[in-house]
Amino acid sequence: MSFAIRPCAPKDLKDIMRLVKEIVGFYDATLGSLRTNVEELKKAGFGEQARYKCFVAEVPFEEKSKEGHTLIGYTLFSYTYNTWRGKNIYLDNLYVMPEFRGRQIGKALLEQVAEAAWRQGLSQLQMHISSQKADNLSFIKKRGGENLTEKDGLHLLCFPNEALKRLAAESRF
Ligand SMILES: CC(C)(COP(=O)(O)OP(=O)(O)OC[C@H]1O[C@@H](n2cnc3c(N)ncnc32)[C@H](O)[C@@H]1OP(=O)(O)O)[C@@H](O)C(=O)NCCC(=O)NCCS
Repeated sequence: MSFAIRPCAPKDLKDIMRLVKEIVGFYDATLGSLRTNVEELKKAGFGEQARYKCFVAEVPFEEKSKEGHTLIGYTLFSYTYNTWRGKNIYLDNLYVMPEFRGRQIGKALLEQVAEAAWRQGLSQLQMHISSQKADNLSFIKKRGGENLTEKDGLHLLCFPNEALKRLAAESRF
């Protein structure tokens, strides 16, 4: 099985959206909770101020998926800034279609992001993993990733939409 990793282009966004929907199913979430669509991905990734970067994994046409797809994996990440460590990468998604797993494609995608981070002199790559799929932790740990919940007792926190709205409404300045 041969495959290539390359930067995502606007023409790939329909496929990325297909894979994003697969991930929603993977976490037994409903598609109604998904706020993004192809147009939004295009604006956010290829508009005036790009908010994310993305690499895709592609197989040759002869090795396409059962449903005829050749774009079979992707990783999407953004740059964050930390006052202790400077500029970092936050990896939002790393996904390989089930029928293509176990062929070193996920590893190659992760390595590509690490290479981009290292080349730019960044200090860290961070991500989160659902405890629902804790087995994927070993994929990350095997490559040197540390679990900051175990190591430093860090919690991942979020103000969901309604809480954000309430908080914003309290703003006085
Ligand atoms: C996690 C994921 C990206 C791995 O992709 P993949 O292409 O199957 O992984 P690879 O073939 O590159 O695996 C590389 C190595 O990791 C190991 N590995 C892969 N998935 C693993 C898992 N879930 N648990 C433990 N080890 C795993 C492989 O055995 C392989 O080991 P080796 O280097 O000793 O041969 C894929 O399973 C996936 O898309 N999962 C669902 C999405 C997800 O949970 N993403 C975030 C998790 S990081």
